[in-house]
This record gives sequence, C-alpha cells and structure tokens, in this order.
Amino acid sequence: MITLKNISKSYTSRGETVTLFTNLDWLIDQGSFVALMGASGAGKSTLLSLIAGILSPDLGNITLDDTDITTLSRDAMIEYRGQHIAFIFQAFELIPNLTVEENIDLILDISHAPRRYATSEILDKVWLTGKWLRYPTELSGGEQQRVAIARAFVADVPFLLADEPTGNLDEGNASRIMDIIDTLHKETKNTIVMITHDADIASRADMIWKLHGGKLIKK
Ligand SMILES: Nc1ncnc2c1ncn2[C@@H]1O[C@H](COP(=O)(O)OP(=O)(O)O)[C@@H](O)[C@H]1O
Ligand SMILES: [Mg+2]
Repeated sequence: MITLKNISKSYTSRGETVTLFTNLDWLIDQGSFVALMGASGAGKSTLLSLIAGILSPDLGNITLDDTDITTLSRDAMIEYRGQHIAFIFQAFELIPNLTVEENIDLILDISHAPRRYATSEILDKVWLTGKWLRYPTELSGGEQQRVAIARAFVADVPFLLADEPTGNLDEGNASRIMDIIDTLHKETKNTIVMITHDADIASRADMIWKLHGGKLIKK
C-alpha cells in the first residue's frame, strides 16, 4: 500500500518558485497496478521520485506499507529503497560493460533484497532464454527493456515504479513489454505505479489516474 497525505512540492530555480502540488492525497492499494497519465510537465516523474524517496516533499507524509519514508534519514532511505522498490526507466539504463546476467545479478548485491527468481528463470520469463552473455549493445531496444524488467523482478521487493517503460519502443515491442509486466505482476502481486502518456498502455493497468493542475483525477 502507498499512501500520500497532504503532499506539497515546489521547485525553486533562479529565484523562481514553481508549485507542482499542494495538499495532494493518494492511496494505492496493496498489489494493485496503477497507471499515471498527464501532460508533459504535470509533475508525474516528480511524484514517482517522491514515492521512491529520491525527492522529499515540502510538506506531508508518504507511507509505504507501514513505513513513513518521510521520517527516514538519507542512509536509511537508501537501504529501505533497495529492499522495497524496483524501477524501470524509459531509457532502459542498463550498465553497458556488464553482460545481461551481470546486469540482473548486480541489483541483488546493491539492493540487499532477497532473490525472487533464479537468473535463468527470470530470463525465460522475459523471453531472453540463452542471452545471458550478451552485452546491452548486442540487444535490440525491446530486448534491452526486457533485461530491465528481469532486473526489476529478480529481487523480492514489493513495489515497482516505472517511468514511461514503453516510451522508447514501437507498438509491437511496447505491447510485448506490457504482456510480460502483466504476467509477472499477477505472479508476484507487487504494487506497480507506471507513468505513461499512451492510453492503450495505460489500459493494461487496473486503474488509471490523471495528474492535472496539481490534482489527481481517477479515470
Ligand atoms: N530539479 C528541478 N528543478 C526545477 N524544476 C524542476 C525540476 N525537476 C522538474 N522540474 C519542473 O517541474 C515540472 C514537472 O516536472 P516532471 O515531474 O518531470 O513532469 P512530468 O514527468 O509530468 O513531465 C516541470 O515544469 C519541470 O520543469
Ligand atoms: Mg516525466
């Protein structure tokens, strides 16, 4: 479960303050798969960074299950994040000088989270059987994003935050990515928040929210 209570967030740069949210509340049920839509600049990525504890709100509390992450120290937040939150990004963000297998296994060392799948098992589930020893540059964009999905599911963490995971892919690859995320979500029952600007992609989620004018509207 993810609970945002009374969240305010502004950015100040060059003496100018832009307020993205005031008094924002949001409740995401345990195990649900939520899509977050909204115009470019609406604050979607900022909202995801707040849930990840990468940014802190100016006011308000963010609770993941029973932990109010807004009370954690920087070091405690890093440890908490590793053990609880997985990420998928638009630009895949694989490490170029590591193989597929090393990219997936590295996250287990960094996160201190328990393993959920054997590496061979998760590679089968993302349809990359036999591609262990490839480097990211030896894979297509769709395959690279499937490695990123394997990395996001290999550790046993309850939350997945995805920022435009299909944004760099064509329709066919995007659809395959969503099939895999859907299957793994049903299997692991993790809680997913996925940003997308694509209505077809959003329709794969259990629920669609739109961020507009600093407010969240349920679609
Ligand atoms: N670090 C920052 N400093 C100042 N302004 C920022 C910063 N990050 C984002 N913004 C501004 O906040 C707004 C929302 O950004 P973002 O959360 O990335 O929106 P979205 O993901 O919906 O496109 C934008 O106007 C952006 O320019
Ligand atoms: Mg964004």
